[in-house]
Amino acid sequence: MQNLIFTNEVKAAIERLEHDGAHNITVWIADVNTARLLSPAPPHLITIGDGDENKTLETVTRVWDEMERMGVTRHSLVINLGGGMVTDLGGWAAATFKRGVRFINVPTTLLGAVDAAVGGKTGINYGGLKNEIGAFAPASDVIISTCFFDTLPLQEMKSGFAEVLKHAMLSDHDEFLRLLDHDFSAPINHDDLLERLRRSVQVKVDIVARDPNEQGERKALNLGHTVGHAFESLAMKRGKPVPHGYAVAWGLVTEAVLSHLLLKFPSEDVHRLGNFVRDNYRDFPFNCDDYDDLLALMRHDKKSRDGEITCTLLTVIGDYRIDQTVTPDDVTAALDILRDQLGV
Ligand code: GLY
Repeated sequence: MQNLIFTNEVKAAIERLEHDGAHNITVWIADVNTARLLSPAPPHLITIGDGDENKTLETVTRVWDEMERMGVTRHSLVINLGGGMVTDLGGWAAATFKRGVRFINVPTTLLGAVDAAVGGKTGINYGGLKNEIGAFAPASDVIISTCFFDTLPLQEMKSGFAEVLKHAMLSDHDEFLRLLDHDFSAPINHDDLLERLRRSVQVKVDIVARDPNEQGERKALNLGHTVGHAFESLAMKRGKPVPHGYAVAWGLVTEAVLSHLLLKFPSEDVHRLGNFVRDNYRDFPFNCDDYDDLLALMRHDKKSRDGEITCTLLTVIGDYRIDQTVTPDDVTAALDILRDQLGV
């Protein structure tokens, strides 16, 4: 069970955790940007490059080397400070070093706070495949705070917000409507956003508690991602990457349409979601000439079976069905409706 701490007093929360555990050494793992948040620099700091291209075995090897040099033992503490790349890589490095050193996550992005830092998935990219090597290894504690978000680029806020929306779609119609009222141009209301995060993360925590190793129900968290990953991968292959959450937002609309076509998910909620995504997640980069490439990617998604396309779908907000098989014709129809919704 992970201990989740929602606070904007991050420094005090970390100090409490450090002192409670009687650790011999505290090691910080940060990327080149988040390391700047640590001033003065702590005595044991491992700085890694930022971006997915550094989420590699070479980086992990360097982290292990530094841990050896610093004399890290099983009585040490690792603190991962950063976005999903740092918490995924740092978590796996800590979980494997001497068969496991305690680690805590301090996510600095909305995407990290609401998804990557929580739930125990750790690992690295390998052989050209994302998150190919890793383990389920939960951080002992996760400190979730909005204090890092004032300086977060708007695109990154929107990217994380798509996962917040996903959690509301899996759980709570009122929260879904509340989120659709969100105005990204307004200054951050920290109290309100921390409350939104508390609710959102709880949805994930409850699902993961019932299925930590993704044998069944955890696949619900894949809502929006079968189609979303295809958007993300195709954009990447073409050398014009899109932020993960933008692909997820477009994927959520497409899978809401599929839910409507196959499970009678209410059309008014498809339209509400579609309008929000049209207004906030612009520059959808695909048209009907891309459908074959997108379908091929969906068939080869690592979570699909036997070349079938499977998604998590909804009957209504809050009622999900995992492992739903959809046909290429269903997806084609849904992509047409998505483009119509987005006005492209
Ligand atoms: N990102 C979905 C999960 O952790 O299962």
